[in-house]
Amino acid sequence: MHNTRLICENTYWVGANDLRLSLFENIFPIPAGIAYNSYLITDEKTVLLDTVDSSVGERYIENVKHVLNGRTLDYLIINHMEPDHCATIEQILLLYPNVKLICNTKTVAMIKQFYNFNAEKNIQIVKEGDTLKTGKHELAFYLAPMVHWPEVMVTYDIFTKALYTADAFGTFGSHEGKLFADETNYSDEFLNEARRYYTNIVGKYGVQVSALLKKLSDLQVDFICPLHGPVWRENITFILDKYSKWAKYEPEEKGVVIAYASIYGNTENAVQILASKLVEKGVKSVNLYDVSSVDESYIISQAFKYSHLVFASVTYNSAIFPKLEHVLNELKHHNFQNRTVSIIENGSWGILSGKLMTEIIQSMKNMTLLEAKVKILSSVKEENYEQIENMANEIVNSIKN
Ligand code: FEO
Repeated sequence: MHNTRLICENTYWVGANDLRLSLFENIFPIPAGIAYNSYLITDEKTVLLDTVDSSVGERYIENVKHVLNGRTLDYLIINHMEPDHCATIEQILLLYPNVKLICNTKTVAMIKQFYNFNAEKNIQIVKEGDTLKTGKHELAFYLAPMVHWPEVMVTYDIFTKALYTADAFGTFGSHEGKLFADETNYSDEFLNEARRYYTNIVGKYGVQVSALLKKLSDLQVDFICPLHGPVWRENITFILDKYSKWAKYEPEEKGVVIAYASIYGNTENAVQILASKLVEKGVKSVNLYDVSSVDESYIISQAFKYSHLVFASVTYNSAIFPKLEHVLNELKHHNFQNRTVSIIENGSWGILSGKLMTEIIQSMKNMTLLEAKVKILSSVKEENYEQIENMANEIVNSIKN
């Protein structure tokens, strides 16, 4: 049975939620599921904006047919050609064989790469700044390459002032009936997941996200309609400000993320002592993550949130513990920058983890390595306790300054 919601004049949400998928992109845990948003405008012409993942295709087609109420579909705008949004295009073509597929040249190449159906006669190419009048509504197209893929574009409805933003402003999590961000307690229910979604999926492309925000800054936007997560119609500057910070790799808050790898609990002992000292000395937010038990996507997200990081690793096969090395390399691959970092190393012989972690940090942009070091020989001893005290003092001074 259909399940749709009205967003603004003639404009409906026709997407669907998947609460059964455990790993988004087969890598990111999504304990609260994922929403695949699609939007339908019923003007003199009818316009669908993107489709959905195949997993929710059946429900989606019911929604589209319900809103069309017997009318045909004139246009399908393809803002993003990733399969979680385009997997249902062929079904739409079978139902509405004369539908025009509005897309850019890069999208056309991807349609051919992913699928075998022939859409040549349906394709209508648009470029930056082109518009499409559908009656009262007039849609303007802006290219947004690498927010998240090269073919991405966003669509602005000049009539309703709704901006259809592809992956931008999306989040993990499903709707549970609450479509609009103002119907949720967004800061409690979604912000952490929105940050985890952005940082892990789009985080590498901060320059491109900043360019898009600048390009759109003159538009009056009353609705932000992303392809995942809640629709924004109130307090839009809240999410715009978050995106602006994330895109510039600026921390949201002063605080410390400690990511550690410990085999027998001795490195963990050191970071627990450090955490106690930091809190005693007045640091408001200290966050400890065992890389062996916490999925890396959460650690990457928290690293984007806070100003200071501590990496603590045992030496393992003359290298960094693999899961911590992976977190560091993932941060580097996400173009992560502008943070202050401290290093704790451990080993029973041939200690190398500190040197190797330092090399990765130094290969990233605008990273400040603090001087205080902690070098543990198997387990924390008196001299380490002093080193940890010095490290805590240096971090606190850096946060205050
Ligand atoms: Fe939700 Fe880049 O796809």
